[in-house]
Amino acid sequence: MSIETRREILAIKPYIPGKPIEEVQKEYGLSKVIKLASNENPLGASAKAMEAISNHFSKLSIYPDGNCTELKAELAKNLKIDHDQIIIGNGSDEVLKLIGEAYLTSDDQVIMADPTFSEYQYVARLMGAAEELVPLKDHKHNLKEMLQRITPQTKIIFICNPNNPTGTIVNQDRLVEFLKAVPSNILVVIDEAYYEYVQASDYPQTISLLKDFENIIITRTFSKVHGLASLRVGYGIAHPKIIANLNRVKEPFNVNSLAQVAAIASLRDQEHLAKSVTVNEQGKLYLYQELEKLGLEYIPTEANFIMFNVRRDANTLFEELLKKGIIIRSGSIFNMPSYIRLTIGTMEENESFIRALKEVLVGENSN
Ligand SMILES: Cc1ncc(COP(=O)(O)O)c(C=O)c1O
Repeated sequence: MSIETRREILAIKPYIPGKPIEEVQKEYGLSKVIKLASNENPLGASAKAMEAISNHFSKLSIYPDGNCTELKAELAKNLKIDHDQIIIGNGSDEVLKLIGEAYLTSDDQVIMADPTFSEYQYVARLMGAAEELVPLKDHKHNLKEMLQRITPQTKIIFICNPNNPTGTIVNQDRLVEFLKAVPSNILVVIDEAYYEYVQASDYPQTISLLKDFENIIITRTFSKVHGLASLRVGYGIAHPKIIANLNRVKEPFNVNSLAQVAAIASLRDQEHLAKSVTVNEQGKLYLYQELEKLGLEYIPTEANFIMFNVRRDANTLFEELLKKGIIIRSGSIFNMPSYIRLTIGTMEENESFIRALKEVLVGENSN
């Protein structure tokens, strides 16, 4: 007799992460591999964050502060909010999971875009909730359609802003109009993992929306512009009533102390943040130009990644680039099989990518 599995989780497909650098090096016998697949900061972490970690080594035997008191205080000061409006998670992934655990049952329905960040579907499935996927329109959230899909069972709506994988945004006016139309018993999760990179002047100022809408939660992370993905630290900002519910389901010591001290130091290093954003902007403009020269249509992005149409099978292109030591994401996992998603790297990395891409395309044409 086998042990019966929870029926709900059978629909969950384990997450397939980007290929690690070491694996690709070994498999293809390469000395240098460039990973532009997981939207990490190509400059790495702030030197101040690394210093904070090394200063903390002598305290490794002590449990972390389960309340993340100092980190919350730093965020509260920066964002001009109260500490009880903040929850810190083991990555923003964990915050998303806590939201599901606190609010979803198998009687509920969850609305999200398609394609969007995979964690929302995972959270819905984990809790046995029904998913309602609303196709993007012109690569953007179709808010009108999302509103039409609301039923009495709808509990959560996820808005990924900028959207992963397309890099497109919902602007302030459209978001406010949408929030006004959503019944107040539905939680709207606004995932802003890439907000620091956004240049558009009409990007929503969501913190100031908290006073008008008690049914929203904003999630952000230290994994992207702060370059701390390996430490796993992210946060949610919402009305204290929502935060109190998430605290009920949170593990006591969910965020390790190295992550906490590094995140605080990183918040204080505005220079590293500004430099990271500048490098991203320069890389973005370079890639726009090069893709235009190659006649490849791209989706204008507000994030640190760019999706573009290679007009051929992206899985094959992925393999060809891998052989040349470049790891990207094929759009096939997002049901966009002729697209690739590329993380914007340093200028040197971007140039290497374009060189490799040209070689692959020329190689194909001469076959
Ligand atoms: C839109 C979006 N939200 C959340 C995350 C998760 O980030 P974290 O490392 O904070 O769990 C990612 C990571 O790729 C993402 O793309």
